Amino acid sequence: MATVSELYESRVRAGQLEPDPAQRGVLPAMDRVVRDLSSAPAAAPAKSGWLSRLIGSAPSAAPAPKGLYLWGGVGRGKSMLMDLIMDAAPMPQKRRVHFHEFMQEIQAGLNAARQRGEQDAVRPVAKKVAAETRLLCFDEMQITDIADAMIVGRLFQILLEEGVTIVTTSNRVPEDLYKNGLNRQLFLPFIALIRERMEVVELASATDHRQDRAEGGQVWFAPADAMATAQMNKLWREETGGVPPTPLVLEIKGRKVEIPQRVGRIARASFWDLCGKPLGPADYLAVAEAVDLLFIDGVPRLSQSNYNEAKRFVTLIDALYEAKVRLIASGADDPERLYAEGEGAFEFERTASRLREMRDADWGKS
Ligand SMILES: Nc1ncnc2c1ncn2[C@@H]1O[C@H](COP(=O)(O)OP(=O)(O)OP(=O)(O)O)[C@@H](O)[C@H]1O
Ligand SMILES: [Mg+2]
Repeated sequence: MATVSELYESRVRAGQLEPDPAQRGVLPAMDRVVRDLSSAPAAAPAKSGWLSRLIGSAPSAAPAPKGLYLWGGVGRGKSMLMDLIMDAAPMPQKRRVHFHEFMQEIQAGLNAARQRGEQDAVRPVAKKVAAETRLLCFDEMQITDIADAMIVGRLFQILLEEGVTIVTTSNRVPEDLYKNGLNRQLFLPFIALIRERMEVVELASATDHRQDRAEGGQVWFAPADAMATAQMNKLWREETGGVPPTPLVLEIKGRKVEIPQRVGRIARASFWDLCGKPLGPADYLAVAEAVDLLFIDGVPRLSQSNYNEAKRFVTLIDALYEAKVRLIASGADDPERLYAEGEGAFEFERTASRLREMRDADWGKS
């Protein structure tokens, strides 16, 4: 089995990756995780087994190998490196999952556990994940709402107790997670837990690897004026072959989400259709799954004054990016300048970086 370093260097030799000194600098920490996992005993003994009942208080299982918290700026290669850990880890019980998707799954599990009347709903849900997973790669830890903030600490605690090694990426140093969040003091033990059970490593690369890629045809039109609409209309006709659109209605958790125009797996909506209503990650994941190409008209300038809409737009783009949906959009300005300042501007850097990558010639579901 190749190490992460070996996988990285072979991709450099094959011309798939540009050599990046900062990326090379974090490879030893990644090799360490895979090495520890390879030499750790295969499964933690079940603490509730007959043997432990016999002995009374059985010594707890050896703790899982220390995980990794890889953080840094956008487009530095964190997700790419995490994929290399996934490839290099020798055991089958490994799983890579995106934060939003994972929290959806956890929420669904919590609802079911509460309906069964479980007191501590997080425990059975975490145990179920742990039973199937020794390495959990958790891309893009970002905690912006209080519900996630309250669940995630408990969830990690139990996963770690159950012997799961967690590798995660983030744009922020742990101390800045859920920064300025409501009741943040309740969140601080989680930061301490990360520091204790994960090696925190910064990927301080000088290069945003999303920047130097070949751009495809124009897919972002700014400003969103009559000219932009005319160009969007022209592309829409070309892509749909002039077939008259019908609404796309998605059923999500008993609610209906409507996209006004759809032809096959191509859909079109205004910014306000998508982000002006109280939709959440589950809705955007469903949209991303239902389409291959999405037209969005009229993304406005974003700021503190339309903070909720902006936050939804960030979630929408994350979902589209993960699902490799192509995007054609018109906006008040270029993505880099859409969210100029104020709270939320930091999160938007990732969105702008992704919007840039989504203009690439070879972007899209293949
Ligand atoms: N050394 C490299 N050479 C060439 N391309 C690279 C290199 N590192 C990363 N990339 C590419 O650059 C893009 C951005 O990388 P990646 O998605 O891993 O960044 P990230 O740090 O996870 O960004 P974000 O914080 O936005 O999630 C990807 O398409 C990735 O394949
Ligand atoms: Mg990433």
